[in-house]
Formats: sequence, structure tokens, C-alpha cells
Amino acid sequence: MNLTTKKAKTPKDSETTVTEVVCPNDTNPMGILQGGKLVQWMDIASAVCAQNHSEHICVTASIDSVLFKTPAKIGDIVTIKAKMTRAFNSSMEIFVQAWAKKVVSQKAYLINEAYFTFVAIDDYGTPCEIKGLKPVTSVEKKQYAAAIKRKKQRLES
Ligand SMILES: CC(C)(COP(=O)(O)OP(=O)(O)OC[C@H]1O[C@@H](n2cnc3c(N)ncnc32)[C@H](O)[C@@H]1OP(=O)(O)O)[C@@H](O)C(=O)NCCC(=O)NCCS
Repeated sequence: MNLTTKKAKTPKDSETTVTEVVCPNDTNPMGILQGGKLVQWMDIASAVCAQNHSEHICVTASIDSVLFKTPAKIGDIVTIKAKMTRAFNSSMEIFVQAWAKKVVSQKAYLINEAYFTFVAIDDYGTPCEIKGLKPVTSVEKKQYAAAIKRKKQRLES
């Protein structure tokens, strides 16, 4: 089916927010959230976003430049927001940001952000065509325009 025959969705339609609490099993001996655990939470949030947009099972194809800006500590509340920047033929780019919040101060700070690419697959595990994405806000339009350059760079690397 051609993309134009499928009704495009907006980034807001599939935007996904996940909240977690950093528990002892999620941390290193210093009580700092393990990087792999945070990436797992980000992967799940973006998978939900991709699957809600495409209405297909999706697999992670790549994760770009995961940057651990500040540590989250045991007891912090971690909020992860996954928002689609662009849908291509079978792949989708999703921008994921994670914040940690101290319970007592209620102060939230950015701990991580990354671009994830997911590919929608059919019952045979073959990439399949998905709906388009229609950006609405000026930020969404900028992200949409820049996504094609990022796609090219990641496929070349
Ligand atoms: C991702 C995967 C489905 C792509 O399959 P493929 O046969 O290589 O597919 P194609 O070359 O036809 O590419 C399909 C799409 O994937 C994109 N893609 C392929 N490799 C990619 C990569 N490394 N990074 C980003 N996008 C990628 C292509 O650009 C293409 O996008 P488009 O259709 O929107 O233009 C396949 O490589 C795979 O199954 N990988 C393992 C996924 C996995 O196990 N993830 C972890 C668990 S969820």
C-alpha cells in the first residue's frame, strides 16, 4: 500500500511517557542507576511509541549517541518521554528524553537523551510499510526536517 493512502498520524498521537522508581536492584554499589537499566526503560518507552504509531510489532534497529548527562540515584523518580520525529517507509526515528526527580525537593533534571530507530515488521519478521507522520508544532517540524540527515548519517556509519 502506498504511504499516501494511509492516514498520517501526529507525534502527539503516539507520544509515550513512562515513570519508574530507582530501586536497589537497578543500581551499582554507589546507589547510582545502572546505564543499561536506563537504556532498557528508554527502549521500552520508544517501542510502545513505535508500536502505537505503526500498529505493528517493532524491533530496535539502532540507538544513537546515548549520553549520560547526570546520575540518577536510588529512590529518584525517573520519567521517560518518547516522541516520534519522523516515519519513513518501515522505520521510525524516536527522540527519547529521561529526567530524574528527587522526591523531597521535587526538582527534576535531564539525565539522558537519545534517538532510537525502530522498524515495523510483519508476521514473517519482514519490514513492512507504515503510516506517515505529520509534524504540527515548530519543534516537531524542525525535528522532522533534520531526521532525514540523521538517518543518512547512521546508515553510512
Ligand atoms: C532491523 C531489521 C528488521 C532491518 O531488516 P533489513 O532486512 O536489514 O531491512 P532493510 O535493509 O530492508 O531496511 C528496512 C528499514 O530498516 C532501516 N534500517 C536497517 N538497518 C538500520 C540501522 N542499523 N539503523 C537504522 N535503521 C536501519 C532501513 O533504513 C529501512 O528503513 P525504511 O524502510 O524506513 O527506509 C533487521 O536488521 C533486524 O531484524 N535486526 C535485529 C533487530 C533486533 O533484534 N533488535 C533488538 C530486539 S527488539
